[in-house]
Amino acid sequence: METQALDPNNTDMPSAVLKSEHKVILRVLVVLDRLATRFENREGFEREALGRCVEFFRLFADACHHAKEEDLLFPALESRGIPREGGPIGVMLQEHTVARRHTAEMGAALDAVGAGDTGGEGRFVDAARAYIELLTNHIYKEDNVLFNMGDQVLSASDQESLCAKFGEVGCRAFGGKSKRQLEAIADELEVKWPA
Ligand SMILES: [Fe+2]
Ligand SMILES: [Fe+2]
Repeated sequence: METQALDPNNTDMPSAVLKSEHKVILRVLVVLDRLATRFENREGFEREALGRCVEFFRLFADACHHAKEEDLLFPALESRGIPREGGPIGVMLQEHTVARRHTAEMGAALDAVGAGDTGGEGRFVDAARAYIELLTNHIYKEDNVLFNMGDQVLSASDQESLCAKFGEVGCRAFGGKSKRQLEAIADELEVKWPA
């Protein structure tokens, strides 16, 4: 069986590529959590840093990462018999939709703050808290359930073809930024807002 020959730690596997992107997303979720806590502790609303977080989530988590799952991985899993409707793929897609709603709300709340509406700060933190909870659980389910199912059903040639397509997506620009430049936002936020 060709799938048994694959090494799960091989970064050439599509699940390994997505898991490594999850790690970057989780690092920015931790910074977002810290900044939300600062606001809740009345230590300030860090508008600029929060704007960087939202930019990262829109471009890296959504445009780069969720697009790979929705356009490439999930259709491949469906073609190998994992159901969309009433199955894990449908749940993941629904969660991506809710995640987009939360990032849109965070963006709108930041705009409101910029326009002088101080109620926008609490509105932002409510959306941020909902996003952190949703995406942390979503990533856990993908890492520990869906991707393992995928590794069982995808053939070596499916995996190879997905990796090649992921490589193409990874070379695109997202909002004018390369994947590496978006990863640098995570580094920059962590340095500026350490634990
Ligand atoms: Fe996902
Ligand atoms: Fe994911």
